[in-house]
Amino acid sequence: MHSEMSPWANNHAVDIDRTFADFGIEPIGPVAERLPEIPPFISRKIVVGHRDYGLIADAIRNRTRFHVLTGFMPSGLPHLGHLMVMKEVVWHVEQGGCGYVAVADREAHAVRGISWEKCREYGKQYLQCLYALGFSGKTYFQSRNERVKDLAFESSIKVNFSDLQAIYGFGQDTSLGHAMSVITQVADILFPQLDAGPAPTIVPVGLDQDPHLRLTRDVAYKFRMFTVEDRGSHISARSKNAPEEALAAVHRAFPGSKKYEGHVDIPGAEYDRVQEVVRAIEIGHGGFGFFPPSSTYHIFMPGLQGGKMSSSIPESLFGFYEPDAAVKKKIMAALTGGRMTLDEQRRLGGEPDRCPVFLLNLFHMATDDAELAEIRRRCVQGELTCGQCKKETLERVRTFLREFREKMDEAEHLVEE
Ligand code: TRP
Ligand code: SF4
Repeated sequence: MHSEMSPWANNHAVDIDRTFADFGIEPIGPVAERLPEIPPFISRKIVVGHRDYGLIADAIRNRTRFHVLTGFMPSGLPHLGHLMVMKEVVWHVEQGGCGYVAVADREAHAVRGISWEKCREYGKQYLQCLYALGFSGKTYFQSRNERVKDLAFESSIKVNFSDLQAIYGFGQDTSLGHAMSVITQVADILFPQLDAGPAPTIVPVGLDQDPHLRLTRDVAYKFRMFTVEDRGSHISARSKNAPEEALAAVHRAFPGSKKYEGHVDIPGAEYDRVQEVVRAIEIGHGGFGFFPPSSTYHIFMPGLQGGKMSSSIPESLFGFYEPDAAVKKKIMAALTGGRMTLDEQRRLGGEPDRCPVFLLNLFHMATDDAELAEIRRRCVQGELTCGQCKKETLERVRTFLREFREKMDEAEHLVEE
């Protein structure tokens, strides 16, 4: 019943190229070149796709306003698989973004049946991880944010059951609570613009969350009172559902413009300037003036055993507070991209790109590019045995855990009640 891209289907084996083509996600390479500095998650090809990231790259380069938001569902303790999105958020805050993080306790409760108490406990851990990674900005639990809940209600007016069916495969047996958690996520994604004013908003997520982005972009568009179109000889501000006074206000704002039934034509004006003025007028007349959210998509880190990484599969990952001996055991038992025999390994080399141990290094453990390149080289040229590689990886993991736990402890007081 769930479509292949359903956020709840736990299907990590989506074909990236096909998904990109089908849904209009674009490869991030070209647009990333507009950034003053390419972050490691892009240069290492972990973040691979985007929607409208150009708006964000330009905001970073031109130092204009933008927001960054993501959300975490507190259905269990945070783990390695959540770190990438957290790092993306932190990086965008460092680049000047106004940071927001939602704890999706409504979703965890409605979709996964997690008690409110557990939601609180897990949620705090997520926030602590974020602060440990250097986050600054606003955080909230969905269930405690009245403005998000009001915005969710307002958004719900723009969405009908057939939208939910088309996007998520919802049917007769889908609970209303599930639908409410979806619309709450829409509100999460739009919340920064409600809170701090309209601006491009980057939402770093895994590919599985794209349906929510599509829905939110649609809702953001439906909220708009005007569309602004470049007609070559003039800019046209066209009413979708703007009150007559708003249309008149646009006309007044641009001397020399011409007002028609349902639109105002503005010669000799700049597109961006018209957008900005129209947005302000919209807000002055009770609208939101939302930008459709931008998004980035990252690939998922595989589980250590080669399958999917999930807290329901203990051998797929190690926890941040797992005892040393257990961490060692899991890493030494991990699947590799190595060959059947040592001899073959020396002759043919290993296959790092399909090796969970290599990917663990690529994602988080080998932070120095030269070091990572050296692991790859030694692997491919057959110089490195998997046993040795795992030992070296374990050392990096130990260092990582030691430092991360320290930072987690220091961050504890930042997560307030
Ligand atoms: N649905 C997301 C998940 O399953 C959590 C989430 C809630 C979220 N609100 C969000 C993600 C807003 C991105 C943006 O993990
Ligand atoms: Fe993976 Fe390391 Fe073995 Fe290469 S040497 S396949 S990177 S474990």
